[in-house]
Amino acid sequence: MQNKVAIGLNRLVTLWLIGCSSIVAAQKLLVPPYLQPGNSPNLSKEQKVLIWQTDSIPGNFTVLCTSLSTASSKPLKVKVTSDKLQLLNKTTYLYRAELAGLKFDETYSYEVILNSKSLYKGQFDSRTKKAQTRFAVFGDCGAGTSQQAQIAYQVYQQKPQFVLVTGDQVYSNGRELEYRHRFFPFYTSPDAAPDKGAPLMNTVPFYMLLGNHDIYSANFNKYPDGLAFFYYNDLPRNGPLPAYVIQPEGNPELIKAFKKNTSPRYPGISNYSYDYGNVHITCLDANTYVNPLDPTLIEWFRNDIKNSKADWKIVSYHHPAFNGSPTHYDYQIMRLIAPICEELGVDLVLTGHVHNYQRTVPLKFSPKVDETTNRYVVSDAGSVDGRFTLDTIFDGVNNTRPNGIIYIVSGAGGAVLYDKEISDNPALWKKGTPENWVPYTVKVISDKHSFTMIETDGKKLNLKQLDVSGNILDEITITK
Ligand SMILES: [Fe+2]
Repeated sequence: MQNKVAIGLNRLVTLWLIGCSSIVAAQKLLVPPYLQPGNSPNLSKEQKVLIWQTDSIPGNFTVLCTSLSTASSKPLKVKVTSDKLQLLNKTTYLYRAELAGLKFDETYSYEVILNSKSLYKGQFDSRTKKAQTRFAVFGDCGAGTSQQAQIAYQVYQQKPQFVLVTGDQVYSNGRELEYRHRFFPFYTSPDAAPDKGAPLMNTVPFYMLLGNHDIYSANFNKYPDGLAFFYYNDLPRNGPLPAYVIQPEGNPELIKAFKKNTSPRYPGISNYSYDYGNVHITCLDANTYVNPLDPTLIEWFRNDIKNSKADWKIVSYHHPAFNGSPTHYDYQIMRLIAPICEELGVDLVLTGHVHNYQRTVPLKFSPKVDETTNRYVVSDAGSVDGRFTLDTIFDGVNNTRPNGIIYIVSGAGGAVLYDKEISDNPALWKKGTPENWVPYTVKVISDKHSFTMIETDGKKLNLKQLDVSGNILDEITITK
């Protein structure tokens, strides 16, 4: 597809150049059209956003989007807008087509047209309202590795309805240039092949979480193309604007341009939630500048989950609260919201940051309170002591009703693995004082890259961890 697109574009541009000799660059598709969920958090309206990026010559694009499920349906009216990005002394255009007014549970085709010539064709399924979902989860992925391509290919084979990325989309600094070289080529590969990736983002929407590497480029003096998370992702914006969001620094002109080109997504997509079938997922920014108990954030978080009628309530953030791997062990600040998650009936917490796979037993946790200040105690390193209650009866096979929340680390999506030697070897898993650690970890796979598949069917949820060849590494079933 990409070759055909390039040939088509070259022909068009050659013809155009005959009458316009001052233009020297050929228009080129830098990122092919990919799907984003847009700002449709709950199941009251359905939309998708189609985004693509070209080089410096603006194009007259139109998009045709038609339901394939309804025989007589007419193409939707699609509005195409563009942002002119001037980053790293280069001009590019980021186009955005709002596919609004979609019906639920339908298959749609789309076609991106440049000057009446077809440029790209794809199709997608709109969100389901049924009580069955099937989605993939991985994080810490955009490192440009062969394993990243294998995972993209395997995820595509699994036919998920959507993908949740648990943060650290791209290494090492979340820059626009890095997305174009280490992220999109793998998930928008025209060919589905283990050494290339797959046209995954062209067919299913990706929901993204802010990780630490996604915000390392907030200094625009050093990285003028930084914080590209907010250029490329178009996510629900139903979260609050808490006091704690990433702030760009440096050249005021670049900051002004960044805010213009990322409005209204910056910083509104830092915290958000969405429904998909019978699953409600709340995504939180857990970076070190965040106070997870920020009153504005917590009030929204409580109401968001309390008001959800979904069978399954899932919370996702990047930095794990209950890590069993030595790497990144001390940063445990998200433990502070464990009691609120328990009170709200959260079933599962999905995280990344630690580059391996981990699963805990169902657990409950009460953070330690300072008797003088009546506040939770957090060390300078971010560690949080407290009291654990573990459900060691649940095994996910014969006993499938957990008493507590199961915490998953799914951070083996492509970047170099952490603590390989501890894989499936409990003797080497992280240990500590009883106030900070008890044997809550039941599974660690750290010597293989992997991803998570979650399927729900009414009151039953199945979670599998698969490797780069599609082999099952771990599996549990949870029932209500
Ligand atoms: Fe991380």
